[in-house]
Amino acid sequence: MAATFDVNAVRQHFPALSQKTVYFENAGGSQILKEVVDTISDYLLGNNVQLGASYAKSKESTKLFDDGCKAVAKYVNASQDEVVIGPSTTQLFRNLSLALYDYITPDSEIIVSKLDHEANIACWVQLAKYRGCTLKWWSSDNKTNPQLDCNDLRSLMTEKTRLVTCTHVSNVLGTINDIKAIAKTVHEVPGALLCVDAVAFAPHRAVDVKDLEVDLASLGRT
Ligand SMILES: Cc1ncc(COP(=O)(O)O)c(C=O)c1O
Repeated sequence: MAATFDVNAVRQHFPALSQKTVYFENAGGSQILKEVVDTISDYLLGNNVQLGASYAKSKESTKLFDDGCKAVAKYVNASQDEVVIGPSTTQLFRNLSLALYDYITPDSEIIVSKLDHEANIACWVQLAKYRGCTLKWWSSDNKTNPQLDCNDLRSLMTEKTRLVTCTHVSNVLGTINDIKAIAKTVHEVPGALLCVDAVAFAPHRAVDVKDLEVDLASLGRT
């Protein structure tokens, strides 16, 4: 017997859907579950204290925060110390670009996809400028169905490539890129890292970062 899917029961978990007009073009790629909104609200109202301190409330808050990281890690098959929760993808990628400051040297080459959201472009352009290294643009000649192509990427890569950045799903085109194949291509060069913007993918499909062999990624609001 075919499994039944109770759409109305699922809709109850998304209060935004009970509005007269619902806009689906929000940043982050999804409407938010009531349980998530409630948990964040409870945390901000009852636990908004310094993490890592010795008093009881801080211990309780630290545990809640750690539990959040654990849940995200399980959700995407990462380990907990690989998870960072932050205010936005734009901010997290900016932080990441600064964290990679020493990894990128003036001799390095960074390859940035042109089919990306600005969040996964501006910080890398800035990093290349800060380090005085080479920045290359990865684009597509296909005007009707632009897609990131591994052969195009390979033609841009050299032994100096240290970072490749691209999107999993284009928020403008809806194109789903083959991240596993892209990761394999990037890793043909020892030391080259792949940074993926999965903001428009993660709310809609399962993510397994180990299987995808992605080094760095943002999952947006999942
Ligand atoms: C694909 C994609 N990446 C990144 C972002 C930026 O996300 P944030 O607003 O969290 O910086 C958006 C926002 O719409 C997006 O659609």
